[in-house]
Order: sequence, then structure tokens, then C-alpha cells
Amino acid sequence: MKIGVLGSGIMGNGIAQVFAMSGYNVVLTDLKKEALHQARIDMEQSLTKISKKKENNIKPSDVLQSVVFTTDKEQLADSDIVIEAIIENMKAKTSVFRELDEICDSKTILASNTSSLAITEIAAATNRPEKVCGIHFFNPVPLMKLVEIISAEQTSNEIVDRISKVIESVNKESIQVKDTPLFVVNRILVPMICEAIFVFEEGIATADDIDKGMKLGAGHPMGPLKLADIIGLDTLLYVQKMLFQETGDSKYRVPKLLKKMVRAGNFGQKTGKGFYDYP
Ligand code: CAA
Repeated sequence: MKIGVLGSGIMGNGIAQVFAMSGYNVVLTDLKKEALHQARIDMEQSLTKISKKKENNIKPSDVLQSVVFTTDKEQLADSDIVIEAIIENMKAKTSVFRELDEICDSKTILASNTSSLAITEIAAATNRPEKVCGIHFFNPVPLMKLVEIISAEQTSNEIVDRISKVIESVNKESIQVKDTPLFVVNRILVPMICEAIFVFEEGIATADDIDKGMKLGAGHPMGPLKLADIIGLDTLLYVQKMLFQETGDSKYRVPKLLKKMVRAGNFGQKTGKGFYDYP
């Protein structure tokens, strides 16, 4: 079975890696050669870490050999599934889906890894809307066990069943979700992180203590402010805004502090400064 992945950023790269580790042939495409070069380096690093664990029987060089890194989208043509992981922008996504619809075989399932955009609108841009769905992975993709399978209004049940079997085959668990703003996990997670930002903004506790509280008091693997820095404060602002706009519900309002930090260019780990410093 052949899997195509479009977009070699942190999510697309992780998705390509997960399929390759389970023995699939993978084509990873991006517009830029340099992005693909970086993706290969990152994938090799991740595979090396994973291969050092005794329980994993993985040889990084073998896994890398099953991935084609290319700027040529035509190589996605005979894929069984293509998963898109480009920027979170509806215009860009619909344009890419129209293109994939033309390039790919009629059997190919077209999926988006979007965390915030309507799959129904993306599906409507194609001539095969019943074969379009959301396959939403979580960061870091090689470690996080869950995948959300999102049905657009048009997605056929058969496609959802096929995707859940494929997800099982890469050792992940899936949940089935209706097409709705932010789906299930982020609909709960993102407002929770924003609540932590409100708590910080109101001076109720330090960032360290808020994170310690949620780790030790609620059993979270990492505190919400640390997680905000890792997700990226720009991304977090974008998704919370989207939730607020789509629902019109004031409980999803954006913390002023989050807006200020993003305006100042402090996006978290990737810019070196967020709720914590990353020298
Ligand atoms: N590939 C391979 N190995 C990796 C890796 C990667 N990409 N990233 C980390 N690791 C390894 C580390 O090297 C480490 O290995 P050792 O045990 O050998 O040292 C191991 O994984 C554990 O990592 P850490 O010790 O750094 O940290 P941890 O024990 O806290 O686990 C975690 C890391 C799994 C990320 C955990 O902290 C966690 O579950 N955090 C929450 C993540 C989360 O909520 N993700 C969802 C984000 S929402 C989203 O995805 C964005 C969106 O849509 C808006």
C-alpha cells in the first residue's frame, strides 16, 4: 500500500515517518527542496531515538529507504491515501485538493490533517467528496497514540472504516468525530490552555506553579503553559480565534496576554521566548 503525504513540516514529516515505520511505501512532497532536506534530517534523528529503545526493532536506514522525498506531486498519483499537512489556510487547502483530485487515481482517498478547518468545505472542492475525510494526528506524531478520523458531511462510512483499519495498522488508536470546529481533542485542550493563560494573566500563580499544578494535580504529562510554548502561541491564537468565530460563544474568547505575546513575536519554543525562555 502506498501513502502520499503533502507538506514536510513537523506534522507531515511525522506522519510520513509513522507510515514508513509500519512498512508502507511513502512519498513525501513539498514545494521546497530545502524543506525536504530538513525533513529527512529530522526524520533520521527521530528514528535514531526510537531505535535506541530495546522494545523497538527499527533500523533507521531501512525506514528512510521506504520514503521518497520529492517536490514532484505527480508521484502521488497512484497512492492509496494522500494526507495533506500544509498550512492552515482554507484557500490553500481547497486549491491543493483540487490539484490532488486531478493528479490522483480515482481510487485514492484524499485526507487532511487540518486541526481547525472544515473537512466538508475541503471535500466540496473535489469531484470525489465521499472519498475525502480528516485524519488528524497529534504532535509529536511518532509518540502520540491518538488519531481523530473526521467525517465530512459527504464522507462514506466505508472510507471511515478503511481508514480506521489503516490507523490500527500503524499502531495508533483512533476515534471517530463529526466535522465540527476543532473536533474533539483540541476543542477541549485549547480552551483549557487558554484558561491557564487567564490564570497566569490574573497573577494567580507563576507559570511554573500553574504547570506543576496541572502535572501533579491533574496527571497531565506536561503543564498547559509549557504545552502552549511547544504548540506555538501563534498557532494557539489562531485556533482559539477560529473556535470563537465559528461558535460565537464568549466562553472561547482569546486571552489578551496571548494576543500581546504574539504581537511581540514571542511564539514560544520556536522563537526562543514564550511563557518560558529557550536559549
Ligand atoms: N521522535 C522520537 N522520539 C522522541 C520525539 C520524536 N519526535 N520527541 C521526544 N522523543 C523521545 C525523547 O527523546 C525521550 O526519549 P528518552 O526516554 O529516551 O529520553 C522520550 O521521547 C520522552 O520525551 P521527554 O522525556 O522529552 O518527555 P515526556 O516524557 O514528557 O514525553 C510527550 C513527551 C510524549 C510529548 C509528553 O510530554 C506529552 O504527551 N505531552 C503532551 C503533548 C500533547 O498534548 N500533544 C498534543 C498537542 S495539540 C496538537 O497536536 C497541536 C494542534 O493540533 C493545535
